Amino acid sequence: MEPVKVAENVYWVGALDYEIRDFHGYRTQQGSTYNAYLIVDEKTTLIDAVKAPFVPELLRRVAKIVDPQKIDQVISNHAEMDHAGGLPHLMHIIGRDKPIYTSKMGEKALRGQFQNAHLNLKTVNPGESMSLGRLSLQFLETRMVHWPDSMFSFCPELGILFSQDAFGMHMCTSRRFDDEVASNVWSYEALKYFANILTPYTTPIAKALESVVSSGLLAKIKIICPDHGIIWRTNPAEIVSRYSKWVKQEPARKAVIVYDSMWRSTEKMATYLGDALSRENVLVKLMSMKTNHRSDVITELFTAGAVMVGSPTINNEMYPTIAEVLSYARGLKFQNKVGGAFGSYGWSGESAKNVQAALQSMNVQLPHPEVRHQWVPEEADLSGLNTMAKAVATALPQEAVPSDFGYM
Ligand code: FEO
Repeated sequence: MEPVKVAENVYWVGALDYEIRDFHGYRTQQGSTYNAYLIVDEKTTLIDAVKAPFVPELLRRVAKIVDPQKIDQVISNHAEMDHAGGLPHLMHIIGRDKPIYTSKMGEKALRGQFQNAHLNLKTVNPGESMSLGRLSLQFLETRMVHWPDSMFSFCPELGILFSQDAFGMHMCTSRRFDDEVASNVWSYEALKYFANILTPYTTPIAKALESVVSSGLLAKIKIICPDHGIIWRTNPAEIVSRYSKWVKQEPARKAVIVYDSMWRSTEKMATYLGDALSRENVLVKLMSMKTNHRSDVITELFTAGAVMVGSPTINNEMYPTIAEVLSYARGLKFQNKVGGAFGSYGWSGESAKNVQAALQSMNVQLPHPEVRHQWVPEEADLSGLNTMAKAVATALPQEAVPSDFGYM
């Protein structure tokens, strides 16, 4: 329960959640952290709070630096419950009359979420500055990164950007800084977080990144303190540069084959399609929904150019696990994907057509009609998958994926 010094008079005082495995539908295999930061100055300021059950942990960390009742004010950069859920309890301890500064949309969200908590909410405008004494904070509007209320706070004297969800990841370790965690570990977790949480908002994120660069702010940033995961103190420009790449959603010559199977016929089709795409020099990842979680599928899909989906027909519908992953993926509004649908059936065989329609509704380009097979297919029955593989391979970028292609 020790606080961690980030810079002179700035401390990480957040909470470690080693046990969480389901973060609103996202599988957090390595847990998560809810980062909060304390700035000790003439106005002692807490930046963001934690999930409700973790308030005692935050308070114990704060108490090692100052009496929690000496906190003068709170900045709420983001109103989602993992950062604001603890506010009512926290304000009860530090003083109900203490101000909570937030964006206009933050005020609406906090009032809506905590109707009976009587929080002393005050709004700040984009571009506004606030003196804390020796240090100050500037507020930047970053709407939809991740919610309409989201904003960044920047401390110019120390070059610290408090970036709420942006540049975060769901990963819990006892280590707080980028240089203390292997880069292959944080590379995967940062991408998984972006893919599952931020993909729908690539346009506003691109705009926010553009203003960070054009205003000259990027050059002034020495440390990025997000609300989840590790603090970027070694080379903060690296994670900003990855975001600048990810917002483009550039397709790669890679296909993810997502499928489920009742009696292994659709599985046979998936394997056959994988071989056919490999022959076309496409990097292939087969993912059965019996063994893969939807959020891991999305991570692989983010770096792929093609989404191939296979489902058997059950009671005239697609398989429930496929309906679920398609619904989750549709909400993420992927761009620049090609794809295809396939599936086996016994009687009526609606699933492949339904999957094709679902992919179409997701703006996936479909260069080949769906491929269906009645009963159990033999290799000779699957030539339709060869022509589908060729059509998809032609629609993908022609450069082969390099051997060091990872989660960058
Ligand atoms: Fe970590 Fe959008 O909350």
